[in-house]
Amino acid sequence: MSDVMTVGIDQMAVYVPPFKLEMGDLASARGVDPKKFELGIGQDEMAVAPLTQDTVAMGLNAAIQLFDRADKVDQQRLDAISLVIFASETGVDHSKAGAVFLTDILPIKQGVRSFEVKQACYGGTAGLQLATSYVHQHPEETVLVVASDNAKYGLKSGGEPTQGAGAVAMLISQDPRIAKVSDVSAYHTADVADFWRPTDQEYPLVDGPLSKKAYLDFFNDTFTSFLGLTHQTIADFTAICCHVPYTKLGAKALAPYLDDCDDETAKRLSHYYQQAVSYNRMVGNIYTGSLYLSLFSLLAHEPNLAPDSEIGMFSYGSGAVGEFFSLYLSKGYGQEIQKHRFAEQLTARKTLTIDEYETLFEEKIPTKARDFLVADDHHDPSEYQLKAINNGHRVYSNPKNR
Ligand code: CAA
Repeated sequence: MSDVMTVGIDQMAVYVPPFKLEMGDLASARGVDPKKFELGIGQDEMAVAPLTQDTVAMGLNAAIQLFDRADKVDQQRLDAISLVIFASETGVDHSKAGAVFLTDILPIKQGVRSFEVKQACYGGTAGLQLATSYVHQHPEETVLVVASDNAKYGLKSGGEPTQGAGAVAMLISQDPRIAKVSDVSAYHTADVADFWRPTDQEYPLVDGPLSKKAYLDFFNDTFTSFLGLTHQTIADFTAICCHVPYTKLGAKALAPYLDDCDDETAKRLSHYYQQAVSYNRMVGNIYTGSLYLSLFSLLAHEPNLAPDSEIGMFSYGSGAVGEFFSLYLSKGYGQEIQKHRFAEQLTARKTLTIDEYETLFEEKIPTKARDFLVADDHHDPSEYQLKAINNGHRVYSNPKNR
C-alpha cells in the first residue's frame, strides 16, 4: 500500500436486457419526425426489459460478470466484499433492499452488510461515495455497488422516447485498477418538483421543461463550485461525463462552457463526450446507472488515456440532488474495462416491432398478486431471471447454483 491510500472503482460491468426498440420505429409509430429523437433528444435505440428482468435480476446479471472473469487478484477483492449497496428508483420492494437478494444469490461470503439507496438517478453516486468513504475506513474490505433501473414513463407519454433499462455493477476498493475517486466534491440539494413517483404510482410524474432546467441549473451550480473548490479550470479535465437521461441534455450542459474555452479543450471535451454517450445512445436512460454507463462507454472507446487523466463526473437525481466530482484514471485501466462482453450483449439484442414492444411493455405482475408464475414467453437468455412470486416474495433463477 502506498503512503497515501487511493480508493475508487476497481472493476465494473454492465448488463442490458436482450430487447431493444429502434427510435426511428417509435417516431414513425407516434407520428413524430425521426430527427427529433435522433438529433433533438439524441437517442438511436432504447433497451426494453421483459418481465423476467426486474431490477434485481438485472443487477444480478451485471454483478455476476465480475465473478465470472475473476483472476487471482479479482477473487481476493471479491472475497473481501463486506458491504453490498443497491441503488435504484425502480426497486422491487418498499421495505426490503434489493441488495439482500444480491447478497444471497451471488457468490459473496456470509456476514456482510447490505442496503438500498434511493434519490432518483443520484442513487448510483450516493452508493459510490458511501462506498469510497467506507473503504477509507476499512481499507482491507471492498464494496459492491449495483445501480439498476427500468425507466418506464408509459406508452405514448411525453417521456416515452427517454426510456431504457439496464444495470451497472462496480467494485470499490483501495488501489483501484480503473479510477480513483476525488477527495473533493461539490453537491447541492433543493426541493424541486421536476420528476417524482409517489408510492401508489406506476410511472413517474414529470414536468419535462422544469426537469431540463433543473438539470442544467444543478450542472452550473455544482460545476462552478467544484472549479472554485479545486482552483481548476475546464481545461484541466481530460473528459467530462454527465448523467444521461438522453444524450442531448449533457451536451447542452457543456455547450456554454465549451463556447468559452480554448479550441483544443473544446474539441477534446466535445469528442470525448460523444464517446462517453455512445452506449447511452443505444440503451436509453437507466436512471441510477446512466452516468456510470457513460463512464464505461468513454473508457471502452478510449482505453489508452494517460494515467491520472481527470474525468469530471456530473450526477443528477430529480427532486433534486446534484453532485460534481472527479475520477483519476489508473494506469492500465483499459485492460480492466472488458467491453467485449457488453458489446456482445448489445449486438445480440432482438429488435422489437412496435407491436411486440407495446405487448412486452404492458406485461405486468398483477398488483397485489401473492403468488404468480413469471412465464419466460420471450425466451430471455440472461442467466438470472425473476421466476415467481411466492407468498409475495420474489424468487430468482440461479441456474448454475453458485
Ligand atoms: N429535429 C431536430 N430537433 C428537434 C425536432 C426535429 N424535428 N423537433 C424537436 N426537436 C428538438 C427540440 O428543439 C428540443 O431541443 P432543445 O432541448 O434543445 O430545446 C428537443 O428536440 C426536445 O424537444 P421538446 O423539449 O419539445 O420535446 P418533448 O416536449 O417531447 O420533451 C423531454 C422532451 C422533456 C425530454 C421528455 O421526453 C421528458 O419529459 N422526458 C423525461 C424527463 C427527462 O428525461 N428529463 C431530463 C432531465 S431530468 C433527469 O435528468 C433525471 C432523469 O433521469 C429522469
